[in-house]
Amino acid sequence: MKENCDVYGIFGNPVAHSLSPHLHNTLFGAFGINAVYAAFPVGRRSLGMAFEGMRALGIRGVNLTIPFKEEALNFIDEIPEDLDRCVGAINTVVNREGRLFGYNTDGRGFLTAAREELGFNPEGKKVLVLGAGGAARGVGSALAIAHAEALWFYNRTLSRAGGLADYLTGYFPETQIKALGSPENLPAQKIDLVVNATSCGMRAGDPSPFDFRFLEGKAAVYDLIYSPAETIFLKDARRLGFPVANGLGMLAAQAALSFELWTGRHDGVREKMLETLKACSR
Ligand SMILES: NC(=O)c1ccc[n+]([C@@H]2O[C@H](COP(=O)([O-])OP(=O)(O)OC[C@H]3O[C@@H](n4cnc5c(N)ncnc54)[C@H](OP(=O)(O)O)[C@@H]3O)[C@@H](O)[C@H]2O)c1
Repeated sequence: MKENCDVYGIFGNPVAHSLSPHLHNTLFGAFGINAVYAAFPVGRRSLGMAFEGMRALGIRGVNLTIPFKEEALNFIDEIPEDLDRCVGAINTVVNREGRLFGYNTDGRGFLTAAREELGFNPEGKKVLVLGAGGAARGVGSALAIAHAEALWFYNRTLSRAGGLADYLTGYFPETQIKALGSPENLPAQKIDLVVNATSCGMRAGDPSPFDFRFLEGKAAVYDLIYSPAETIFLKDARRLGFPVANGLGMLAAQAALSFELWTGRHDGVREKMLETLKACSR
C-alpha cells in the first residue's frame, strides 16, 4: 500500500468475522490497485454518522452487512439501477465526488452462482425460498427479475414471509408469489430449486430448516451459508442425490460485482475471488 491510497470498507455489527477485507485487499494487490479495504464496526445507532464520515473522509466505497442493508437506504443519494430499487436493501455504496450511489449485488451474485454451479436457469421455474430476511429479499427479487414462474417463501415467522411476498408481488405481479404457513402446504407440483436463505445452519447444533420429505421428486438445492461448508440441510439434500451448492460461489460473485463497481475491473475478478475464498476456507 502506498501513500494517498483509496479507502474502501464494510459497515456492519458484528463485522470482525467478515472475509471481505481479506478478499478485496488480495484483489487490490493482484491488480496493482493502490487501495485498502477495512472492516468498520459501526454502532447500531450510528449508521448515519458513519455515512457522514464516508463523505467527509472521501472513503470511495463500502459494503454493508447485517444489520444495515435496509437502514442504509436512508443515508444514500441515489439507487441508479431499476433492478436494485425493487429489492429494498443495498449491500454496496459507491462514493462519486461526494454523492453516494447504492447497489445490491447479492441477488445477481446468487443467480450467477446458481447458474454456474447448478446449471439453474430461473426462467419459468418454481422455487422455494426458506427465510424472509435481507438475503431472501435479494434472492427472491433476483429470481422474479429473471422470470421465475413461482416463488414460495417459508419462514419461521410467517408474518415476515407474508410481508415479503406482498412486497414482491407489488413489483412483480406476473410472478406467483406466496408465503407458506407450513412446508406441508407446498403445492403438489414439482419444485425446481430450494434455497436456504435463513441463518439456520451457521451455528453448531442447528437443525435443518426444511424436511425434504415434503418435496415431490428432485430439486436443485442452494444454501447461502458457506461456513460451515456443509450444513445439515445441504447434507440431507446431497444424501438424497439432489444437486447441491453452498454459498461460497455467491459470496465470490457478489464481491466481484462490488469490486467492479468501484474499480471498473471485471476480467478474472470472480475467479480470483473464489480462489482466494477457497484458500482461506481450507
Ligand atoms: N453467500 C452469500 O454471499 C450470502 C449473502 C448474504 C447472506 N448470506 C447468508 O444468508 C443468511 C441470512 O442472512 P440475512 O441477511 O437474510 O439475515 P437476516 O435478515 O437476519 O434473516 C435471517 C433469516 O433466518 C431465519 N432464521 C434465523 N434463525 C433461524 C432458525 N433457528 N430456524 C429457522 N429460521 C431461522 C429468520 O427467521 P425469522 O424471520 O423468523 O427471524 C430470517 O428469515 C445468513 O446465513 C447469511 O450469512 C450469504
